[in-house]
Amino acid sequence: MTIKKVAVIGGGTMGSGIAEVAAKSGCDTIVVEIDASLAEQAQKKLEVSTEKAVSRGKMTDEDRSGLLSRISFTTSFDELTDRDLVIEAVVESPSVKASVFKTLDEIVQKDGILASNTSSISIGDIANNTSRGPQVLGMHFFNPATVQPLVELISSEVTSEETLNRVETFTREVMGKHPIRTIDRAGFVVNRLLVPYLLQAMHMFDRGQASKEDIDAGMKFGCAHPQGPLELSDLIGLDTLQLVAEVLYEEFKEPTYAPPPILKRMVTAGHLGRKTGKGFYTYE
Ligand code: NAI
Repeated sequence: MTIKKVAVIGGGTMGSGIAEVAAKSGCDTIVVEIDASLAEQAQKKLEVSTEKAVSRGKMTDEDRSGLLSRISFTTSFDELTDRDLVIEAVVESPSVKASVFKTLDEIVQKDGILASNTSSISIGDIANNTSRGPQVLGMHFFNPATVQPLVELISSEVTSEETLNRVETFTREVMGKHPIRTIDRAGFVVNRLLVPYLLQAMHMFDRGQASKEDIDAGMKFGCAHPQGPLELSDLIGLDTLQLVAEVLYEEFKEPTYAPPPILKRMVTAGHLGRKTGKGFYTYE
């Protein structure tokens, strides 16, 4: 059965991008926000971003009006009864996600698939709030969701092969993304590899092994990375990185995931990277 009717819960950074991808792919898409002003804000954001895409020649006017006609914004979960797939992208809080999944399980038709875009919460724990564990999985998009091709598909101990196959086909053939499969372990594939690398660069800088510019240049010009690890850490946000490192350390108890002292000191000082104007580098 093809997935045609989609909903996205949360119209923030990730939800708005995921909803845009779904509507652009031809799906009837509903975005649910907590209150009317946030729903309106999410709608305006989409109107502006698609207008910019048209002016940059990345989308035709016709495609834009098609996309906007397929997407609606609401505050009511009651509109989700007929959805084939619901992708949750609300704040990274286990209790908020638990309550959203309980509600979705009561409302969405019994064959509907429920996915979470969580970065760090166990998919098994999320699925426990529903009576349809085999139809619950993780769909981890990357920021910005309209641009980054990767989607990690995370299966819990009870996610069914049928659910994974349906969502994998949808992600690849309808959304035009590149899905990869992984099991339910903190960090999934990408953060489990990326975070220790970023933390090692911080240790190296802290020990005075090389300057920040030379550490970054090493990876840009030696490994063809678009950014060096300290530049990338500033972009992600040092507070976010500390949280992710703590989740990985909590799960695996391996020193490689422990947040380095320099990271903790910088976060305490409010030097969070690009968003505060100061991290490893200073920004205007
Ligand atoms: P955000 O804070 O930008 O957006 C969250 C949105 O959810 C807000 O607009 C909020 O009003 C809404 N919301 C909260 N509770 C709700 C509820 N009960 N019903 C409906 N809407 C509700 O957060 P962001 O960055 O978009 O993150 C969302 C999820 O995506 C988190 O689980 C995060 O870990 C994950 N994620 C974030 C990435 C990033 O780079 N920001 C990358 C990949 C995953």
